[in-house]
Amino acid sequence: MKSELLTTLRNAAPAILPSLLQCDFGRLADEVQRLEAAQVPALHLDVMDGRFVPNLTYGMPIVASLRTLTDLPLDVHLMIEEPERYIDQFHTAGADIITIHVEATQDARAVLQQIRKLGIGAGLALNPATPISDIESCLDLCDLVLVMSVDAGFGGQSFNPIALEKLQQLRGMISDDVLLEVDGGVNSDTIAACSNAGAQLFVVGSAIFKHDDYVEPVATLAQRATK
Ligand code: DX5
Ligand code: ZN
Repeated sequence: MKSELLTTLRNAAPAILPSLLQCDFGRLADEVQRLEAAQVPALHLDVMDGRFVPNLTYGMPIVASLRTLTDLPLDVHLMIEEPERYIDQFHTAGADIITIHVEATQDARAVLQQIRKLGIGAGLALNPATPISDIESCLDLCDLVLVMSVDAGFGGQSFNPIALEKLQQLRGMISDDVLLEVDGGVNSDTIAACSNAGAQLFVVGSAIFKHDDYVEPVATLAQRATK
C-alpha cells in the first residue's frame, strides 16, 4: 500500500497538494469535493501545537473526519514538539504519510522508524534556518523530504529562496524513490523555480484558497510546474 501510494505520487508529479489550513472548516465536505474536482492527488494537513510553532490548528479529529470524506491520500505535516507522542494516533486517524520536523525531536531516526513500522510513508521536514547536514543521517529512512520555504507556523508568508538551494542539493543526495516536497509561499511566481530545483510535490495554501474556484488555480500551478 505504501509503495503504491509513493509510486502514484511520483507519477503524479508535478503534483499540487492543497494545504487545508485556509479552507472553510464549516463546509469541510464541500471543500473536499471541490478539491477532488480540481484533481489534486492528495490533501496536505497542517497540524500545529502552539509550542513547536506559535500557531495552533487541529488534531486527530479533523484528520479522522477527512478520512471519512475522501479516499485521497492524507499527507499529514506535524508541526508539533516531540511528535513521537502522537504518531500512533495520527495513523489511526487515517494518515497515509506522516512528516515530522527534525527540529522538534531529539531522535528523528527513531521517529521515522516508528512511522515506517506502521506501514505508512515517513517524511522529514526542515525549516529555512536548518542546514541539510541536520537531516543527512536520516535520509535513508525517508520516503519524503519536505523543504520548508517559510518558517513553519502560518499560511500566507513570502517564499524564502533558500529553499531552492536546498531542493537542488537534496535532489542530488536522495534516491529517485524519495519524494521531494516544498511548502510555503508557493504560488504562480515561485513554483517554476521550485520545480526546476527538483521539487515534485508542491504544497499550496493561499494561492488556491484565495480563489472562489479551485479548478483553474490548481491547473495553472501544475502547468507552471511542468518543465
Ligand atoms: C506553514 C504550512 C503550510 C502553509 C502553506 O507552516 O506548513 O502548509 O499553510 O500556505 P501558503 O501556501 O499560504 O504559504
Ligand atoms: Zn505544511
